[in-house]
Amino acid sequence: MEGLDPHRLPRHVAVIMDGNGRWAKKRLLHRVAGHEAGAESVRVVIETARRLGIPYLTLYAFSKENWQRPQREIQALWHLFRRFLRSERPRMMENEIRVRHVGDPDGIPEDVYAEFAALIRDTAHFNKLTVNLALNYGGRHEIARAARLFAEDVQSGRRDPSEMSPEVLASYLFTADIPDPDLVIRTSGECRVSNFLLWQIAYAELYITETLWPDFREEEFLEALREYQRRERRFGKTSEQLGQEGLTPEAVAR
Ligand code: IPE
Ligand code: IPE
Ligand code: MG
Repeated sequence: MEGLDPHRLPRHVAVIMDGNGRWAKKRLLHRVAGHEAGAESVRVVIETARRLGIPYLTLYAFSKENWQRPQREIQALWHLFRRFLRSERPRMMENEIRVRHVGDPDGIPEDVYAEFAALIRDTAHFNKLTVNLALNYGGRHEIARAARLFAEDVQSGRRDPSEMSPEVLASYLFTADIPDPDLVIRTSGECRVSNFLLWQIAYAELYITETLWPDFREEEFLEALREYQRRERRFGKTSEQLGQEGLTPEAVAR
């Protein structure tokens, strides 16, 4: 399978899709043209994950911080998301892909959110691949929200403060029933996490490529997966321990 071990694929791949603006600039185009070209990469990565049998894919599409961009670009982005949701709906249905939201519904333009919510509802019963779209997402916002929800449960008597643990906190995150990402891919060479899945990426393998997001297509994705399979995930143990136990690193994580 394209130089990949089908038994050691990541269960969850999370992608920081960066570099659309630079891609456009290199071609003397407007930044929005970069976002348009990036939409095709989104389609390709979803299709490839589905074909390979990777069960969870999370795509960072709009951060809480992205509201600070020029108004014109923000509007163009939401317009593009809406177009993307419409054009991809038949493919999602046909390929039995479940779409979910990771992020804050508040602030997303109503017409876009209505389209999004309908797709989430109509694909909720699928289980071949779950695509989490991180839209209006911020990791710190997500953790603070989890703390607030837990506090509300304490206040109403459903929970006791002594119950708080990493597992309990995780159950209040948007990703409550989803395994943590095994692999985080960031395109365009930036070595930072930009407030993405702060809690969930505690033990993820990080893969940073210089390739700009609109140029990140199937071959680039496969290369990231091959690199992932070359890594040794130790989870705090020694290399020797992993060998002795005869466990794959993935099994250690479970
Ligand atoms: C990523 O590309 C898309 C979003 C953040 C919405 P950028 O627009 O950040 O592209 P660069 O980083 O300016 O090249
Ligand atoms: C991260 O990209 C957010 C998304 C990909 C949606 P940015 O381009 O916004 O990140 P920074 O600001 O360069 O860290
Ligand atoms: Mg960027």
